[in-house]
Amino acid sequence: MSSISSQQRVVSGMRASGKLHLGHYHGVIKNWLELQHHYECFFFVADWHGLTTHYEDPAILKASVYDMVIDWLACGVNPGTANIFIQSQVLQHAELHLALSMISPLGWLERMPTYKDQQEKLKEKDLATYGFLGYPVLMSADVLAYRAGYVPVGEDQMPHIEFTRELARRFNHIYGREPGYEERAEQDIKKMGKKNAKSFQNLRRQYLEQGDKHALEMGQALLEAQANLNTESKELLAGYLEGGGKIILPEPEAMLTPQSKYPGIDGQKMSKSYGNTISLRETPEEVERKIRTMPTDPARVRLSDPGNPDKCPVWQLHQIYSPEDVKDWVQTGCRQASIGCLDCKKPICDAINRELAPIREKAAELVAKPHIVKSVLAEGAEKAREVAEETLDDVKSAMGIVA
Ligand code: TRP
Ligand code: SF4
Repeated sequence: MSSISSQQRVVSGMRASGKLHLGHYHGVIKNWLELQHHYECFFFVADWHGLTTHYEDPAILKASVYDMVIDWLACGVNPGTANIFIQSQVLQHAELHLALSMISPLGWLERMPTYKDQQEKLKEKDLATYGFLGYPVLMSADVLAYRAGYVPVGEDQMPHIEFTRELARRFNHIYGREPGYEERAEQDIKKMGKKNAKSFQNLRRQYLEQGDKHALEMGQALLEAQANLNTESKELLAGYLEGGGKIILPEPEAMLTPQSKYPGIDGQKMSKSYGNTISLRETPEEVERKIRTMPTDPARVRLSDPGNPDKCPVWQLHQIYSPEDVKDWVQTGCRQASIGCLDCKKPICDAINRELAPIREKAAELVAKPHIVKSVLAEGAEKAREVAEETLDDVKSAMGIVA
């Protein structure tokens, strides 16, 4: 809640892992489509992140980066509103990662739950590397480079966002105090006029002495409303209000995306690592084949055996796709054994194919016109660089790096 100008910025990255599937679409992409209307969005392919775990397989990245972007565009992520780019093409991510690594405590990194979990999960890989340990530092750089207000992430990424916030706070604490900082703050406060200055000081005291969050918010609102203060003064005072120095890197907030419950074709959560996906460019025949082999309530061995939709992954798909009358038809038909599982699956095949038809078509178009994708990415990277460069200038100067 501390930044003034970049609150409305959203940053989100997706690890490069290949063509997208329906789980991505329902879990992440639909959310992006909504966000791009309301925020200034920076969406990127996290190719460096891909290498932290798959550094031995350069072929994966090579094959997947463009495919992912094609799928985003085919789904309707709009380069006219959102900035779409590849992480490695915006050098500021790597540069900020290096800068932040200087102040990243090893203890914080070693304690990350994802660090041990992933090493367990990917046992066949040697993840005792510097790059993998630093994964959260890289992710912090991704977000902080744009001074983003919000980061849409799933539950599993929450520790990384918390890490980002703590690292930003630490950075501001170490580098945000310039000589004469307190005096400058006092002088800027005077510019607010007697009455406002007094309220501001009171609110600051209330927050710092009693942790009164409401006072903090009122102080921030008061600051926003000051026509007499320029952006620099406002930023300085925003930091002063919170008891720290100048806020060079504002703390982002997580925007929790509900975990996608999209079932895979084996009934588990849809995920590439389970090999149970339907990709966004699957042919209608493939979709039909995959849905046809999907497991159902095991109690329904014969057509005459009644079943229970609550025990069937196909029912989960009906909840995503089907209108009420179809859902009623499933409930009754399944429990009374008056419909077969293949009948029940038919409306799902149709719904998925209806959903995928325009995506397939748009993707095929983009595959045939790679120059369009290239130019989207070039423009996205250009804009991203512009914004990130401003942050890097401030960061480097705060750290004493001579321009
Ligand atoms: N770590 C994220 C994931 O595995 C991907 C990611 C990288 C990301 N950088 C990011 C997400 C910045 C949001 C913001 O899903
Ligand atoms: Fe599942 Fe439908 Fe078969 Fe019932 S009828 S078990 S809901 S596929």
